[in-house]
Amino acid sequence: MLNFKDTVAVVTGAGSGIGKQTAKILAQGGARVVLVGRTLSKINEAAEEINNGLTEQAAVSFQADVTNEADIEDLAAFIKSNYGFLHVLVNNAGTSGKSTIMDMEASEWDRIQETNLKSVYLVSKKLGRLMMESDAGNKAIVNVASLSGHKAGAKIPHYSSSKAAVINFTKALALEFASYGIRVNSVSPGFAETPLTAEGLKKKRFEEAIQRNTALGRVGKPEEIANVITFAASNEASYMTGSDLLVDGGWLIS
Ligand SMILES: NC(=O)c1ccc[n+]([C@@H]2O[C@H](COP(=O)([O-])OP(=O)(O)OC[C@H]3O[C@@H](n4cnc5c(N)ncnc54)[C@H](OP(=O)(O)O)[C@@H]3O)[C@@H](O)[C@H]2O)c1
Repeated sequence: MLNFKDTVAVVTGAGSGIGKQTAKILAQGGARVVLVGRTLSKINEAAEEINNGLTEQAAVSFQADVTNEADIEDLAAFIKSNYGFLHVLVNNAGTSGKSTIMDMEASEWDRIQETNLKSVYLVSKKLGRLMMESDAGNKAIVNVASLSGHKAGAKIPHYSSSKAAVINFTKALALEFASYGIRVNSVSPGFAETPLTAEGLKKKRFEEAIQRNTALGRVGKPEEIANVITFAASNEASYMTGSDLLVDGGWLIS
């Protein structure tokens, strides 16, 4: 098990899917974890589920929209007053949509870019300040990108381009934060079973296409992505920064 003793961590989009599993592994490793999301009931339930399996209460929820600067300033103030430090940040919150370029309204383009890309800049900037001031030891940011950031998919031009930008932004952030002892990496999941992909996976054709096009022949589980995110966040990855870890079951090589 990875060791996150004496670690304070934030996971955005922690109320479901990959974020929830990531928060769970961090807490099981000994971290105190702040679960961030817009829907309070979801993050409260996730925190309760995580705490249920632990002897000490490790998870708390904080309602915030990662595209909203004031919300993120409140989150930074909450962490400062409750913990004083921040060591690990997982920028996981994200969303998708389906449209061709010609059919897409500019507002839909903006919604995807703001949620998937601008939020990573905003949260890293506001919480990065706290991480810079935090005591020495393992300090890491992990941004959740996507296989689609490597290979454009049909009818997700806004999503693909936002995730390609997250991979590149990660490298820029890694360069800027290295002198503060903060490592920054991204993880690019392939297809995993979460609420984000639930609609698509209901279609037999879509699931069969994933099985056919993936070397491992199956859809991934959220914990299989979370395992890699938490590795990148841990001290076991102490010499890794500015990297993207592709966790796609072998889609790109197929
Ligand atoms: N599942 C896959 O196959 C797959 C593949 C590649 C990449 N990814 C990436 O993995 C990440 C996690 O996705 P997932 O698959 O686990 O889907 P998910 O279960 O839908 O998780 C996304 C979470 O982000 C939160 N969120 C969305 N917009 C937000 C905002 N503005 N502010 C705060 N929280 C927000 C959502 O909660 P609220 O709506 O309550 O805020 C939700 O809990 C995303 O970045 C996604 O793009 C997933």
